[in-house]
Amino acid sequence: MINTNSYQAKQFNLSGLNGISDRTLEMHFKLYEGYVKETNRLTEKISEFLRDGKVDQEEVPAYSELTRRLGFEYNGMVLHEYYFGNMKQGGQVDAERNSAFFRAAEGSFGSYDIWRADFVGIGKMRGVGWAICYENPANGRLSNHWITLHETGNVAGFNPVLVMDVWEHAFLLDYKPAERPKYIEAFFSNIAWNVCDERLKRDLVARSATARELG
Ligand SMILES: [Fe+2]
Repeated sequence: MINTNSYQAKQFNLSGLNGISDRTLEMHFKLYEGYVKETNRLTEKISEFLRDGKVDQEEVPAYSELTRRLGFEYNGMVLHEYYFGNMKQGGQVDAERNSAFFRAAEGSFGSYDIWRADFVGIGKMRGVGWAICYENPANGRLSNHWITLHETGNVAGFNPVLVMDVWEHAFLLDYKPAERPKYIEAFFSNIAWNVCDERLKRDLVARSATARELG
């Protein structure tokens, strides 16, 4: 039984991307839906243990294993939503010079190009995982991170601004395993930079402060 708080898979209209085929995306959406389903299923299973108000001693191993898996499934669900959400048909290779993201990258890395080199470098790292550009909401500073699987390396409280899936399933139907750089190039040509700008919380705070001052 799934309770009323269960998650629903979101829909993303991404057909016709540059260098990432519709076939890849359809397969990827199915994988994402699997994470949503598992997140709901594990949440329900864990709640069954708690129905009598406690975790009995003999339930601890199963309860612990399910709880560990929950981190994997939850992050798998959420990161895919960020990833699909920061691509669009007709996206642009690079952030506009006067955009909030460009300014944040310059302020954090000295230049946008250095930010980009770092993000792309992380994307090319060996292993299965994600490259994520986070914003520290306390000071607006951006930093790029490698996430192993879905759950190892996320920075608590940080805000994901640009999320790139570099698991092989993200590109294997379109490129050879060794061609990850080509996939990264394709990913960059589809970025919805307007979404990245909207995700920046610090900038949002600054904008609303300016609006208040002007108002
Ligand atoms: Fe994925």
